[in-house]
Amino acid sequence: MAMTGVLRPGHAQIRVLDMEESVKFYTEVMGLVETGRDSSGRVYFKTRQERDHNSVVLRKSDRAGIDLFAFKVLDKATLEDLDQKLQAHGVKTERIPAGEMLETGERVRFQLPTGHTIELYAEKKDVGNGHGYVDPEVEVIEYKGISPIRMDHCLIYGGNIDGNLELFEKVLGFTLVERVKLEDGQTDLATWLTCSTKAHDIAMVRHGEDGKLHHVSFQLESWEQVLRAADIMSRNRVSIDIGPTRHGITQGTTIYFFDPSGNRLEVFCGGYDHYPDMHPITWSWEEVGRGIFYHDRKLNDAFLSVVT
Ligand SMILES: [Fe+2]
Repeated sequence: MAMTGVLRPGHAQIRVLDMEESVKFYTEVMGLVETGRDSSGRVYFKTRQERDHNSVVLRKSDRAGIDLFAFKVLDKATLEDLDQKLQAHGVKTERIPAGEMLETGERVRFQLPTGHTIELYAEKKDVGNGHGYVDPEVEVIEYKGISPIRMDHCLIYGGNIDGNLELFEKVLGFTLVERVKLEDGQTDLATWLTCSTKAHDIAMVRHGEDGKLHHVSFQLESWEQVLRAADIMSRNRVSIDIGPTRHGITQGTTIYFFDPSGNRLEVFCGGYDHYPDMHPITWSWEEVGRGIFYHDRKLNDAFLSVVT
């Protein structure tokens, strides 16, 4: 087996202001499937095509943002190994018992140098995508709502993104795919990292305030599906930040938009495959506009300033 260690993003726990309004949005507009509610009031969702029980968890709060972002690792031995490696790197870890989240095994929780809470886990119940494991049908997009393939990545904002990079590379085995330099040509403004062959599994931007969420992103199958998503957003009067357009960085097509609580989400398609032997791509400060939004070739005001 070639893929070991950290496999992929697993679940994002997002804070919302009004649960009823949010459940309606995440099911009817996003087209996610509600898979459960727990005794603390959290509501769990997966995309139609995801096989594990949940990838998005909503928690009611008086402020929007992200509680935690989790990665699934290969197995329990890997979880133990990574916990040891985190501690050896000077990171304090905490064990969250199995069952604290619905259908999810024990988690290893820790803080990034940017103040974000990250979790690793090895087990989440496979509830399937409705097509079974023998002679399955293909997925036909005939549903209401955007219906993404998967919860794909997140972009976080915080101060010490250099510390984050070191931790993800040296401890968790991620590789750097792309980076944007500040005016000095030395300091990273932003980095895009992967634990797989995707163009990114997590990204981060240097920011004055720690622990902030820029967006959680969902993958679509095609550029046509990105346009369809934009139509669904307009029909439902969803607040769109920018798009449909394309990123220079990762080369994905994209729409940024907001959930009813003001959390920025993204739906995207495309991007290239990355392997650990490939050189990271560097964007200069002068070309950052084209890097972020390839068609507009400039940043919009919201990109650097609106976070939850
Ligand atoms: Fe993104």
